[in-house]
Amino acid sequence: MTDPRSGGIAVIDFGSQYTQLIARRVRELNVYAEVFPYDASREKITAHNPRGYILSGGPNSVYEEGAPQMPRWLMKDFPVLGVCYGMQALTHALGGIVAPSEEREFGPAQIHHTQDNPLLHNLPDNMQVWMSHGDRIEQPPEGFIGLAASDNSPYAAMGDPVRKLYGVQFHPEVAHTPHGKDLLRNFLFDVCGCEPKWSPLAFIDEAVRTIREQVGEERVMLALSGGVDSAVAGALLNKAIGSQLVCVFVNTGLLRKDEPEQVVQVFRGEQGMNLIAVDATEDFLDQLKTVTEPEAKRKVIGKLFIDTFANQARELASEGVKFLAQGTIYPDVIESAASSKTAHVIKSHHNVGGLPPDLKFQLVEPLRDLFKDEVRSVGTALGLPESIVWRQPFPGPGLAVRCLGDITWERLEKLRAADAIFTDELGKAGMLRQGTSQAFAVLLPVKSVGVMGDYRTYEEVLALRAVTTDDFMTADWARLPYDLLAKVSNRIVNEVRGINRVTYDITSKPPGTIEWE
Ligand code: XMP
Repeated sequence: MTDPRSGGIAVIDFGSQYTQLIARRVRELNVYAEVFPYDASREKITAHNPRGYILSGGPNSVYEEGAPQMPRWLMKDFPVLGVCYGMQALTHALGGIVAPSEEREFGPAQIHHTQDNPLLHNLPDNMQVWMSHGDRIEQPPEGFIGLAASDNSPYAAMGDPVRKLYGVQFHPEVAHTPHGKDLLRNFLFDVCGCEPKWSPLAFIDEAVRTIREQVGEERVMLALSGGVDSAVAGALLNKAIGSQLVCVFVNTGLLRKDEPEQVVQVFRGEQGMNLIAVDATEDFLDQLKTVTEPEAKRKVIGKLFIDTFANQARELASEGVKFLAQGTIYPDVIESAASSKTAHVIKSHHNVGGLPPDLKFQLVEPLRDLFKDEVRSVGTALGLPESIVWRQPFPGPGLAVRCLGDITWERLEKLRAADAIFTDELGKAGMLRQGTSQAFAVLLPVKSVGVMGDYRTYEEVLALRAVTTDDFMTADWARLPYDLLAKVSNRIVNEVRGINRVTYDITSKPPGTIEWE
């Protein structure tokens, strides 16, 4: 069986915010795509024998000092599609002329075909595209002809069909270019001759083979958090090596309602994995007793978590376990590999910290090549329940950053009960997978006066937070229906003792953050 990653597309990254999107679109067409910094070595870029190359956009101008250039070895014999800056880099490298455009073009534009050609074949003569550029092609390199034009760009698309080199001034990878995927399809199948052999199922067979090859008869340890990535990594390893896998799950006491039980039930019960469940609740509560400052909470939790996990790891290492598996996924890999010169957006990672230096394991990272949606498909194919595969993100420090002020068992239980009601009602309204990207409750360090029956109450205030977002870097508050909010508020005040007031957070990010701490 051939590797489903071979014969795909290498995406050369010049620093565009859309580079990952190019790879995702290609994979949606069942062709494997991988992203490389523009200055990666030829051996790295060609490791899976790509059939074609896509040069991404980027923030530079090709004539600027230090501007990233097209790799020289790429100039011969390979099908290439340059997108925006990638098209300009291609033009510059092959002797054409790029110049600042009199009018910069940002946003929607119309282009029309001037020539039939394999790249735009079967696409409408006039189509809407998404532009975002200052420079434009003044004169294409020798052998190239204009394929499409916009009002502002005589070469909105150009190509040399003989050498299979193409460039587009617009972004085919974004949703605002409605026929962009068709254009990519033409490039993949008609220009490069790729085969549609990439799929989550093909990935599973290949991953199982690779894992077995890497670990042989050895045992592998994996930290399960209850989150999607480690869960899918666990299910995949379980399929590959079964009893050689041992999972460690640390219950910090800061998880949501029924979560620790669910982890044990799914992984030990349904998936039949070796699972060591460590209940460290007392330790966490003890160490958090006097800590209320958000950063201090994170530090205490991070350290205690590593210490607890390290104890287990040390024990397993003494039994001869040499491998540590992690649920690293492709966006983590691309971000940490991006060339320092071109990466303009750097996501801050919240969960820093590693095992102490005396603990050395070889890493197994079976999901390194997958995007989040692919991780979910693999999880579903491996039989994980929807509640795990479609789980919303949950911060590493858990409910500690949603329990403002003192962290006590009693307050955590209150928060858990209210949060569960909110989740339950969102689920019933069909708004957990659609309509909210993340939704949760926050217990505030504030009391307010209320009245219940004939009694005056003086109890705690709870905030509901629900946001919509694509990337969690910016977010808007979800416009939940009033009736849904009314029901949630009513149930919480009636069912959860000690909360007598519920508010809804209507702050976007920025200026707010998604979490409250
Ligand atoms: P903020 O609050 O920064 O959150 O807007 C953005 C996303 O990151 C999650 N988050 C964390 N995740 N450890 C994590 O693993 C953390 O300390 C942490 N803080 C925030 C948050 O839930 C949201 O999805």
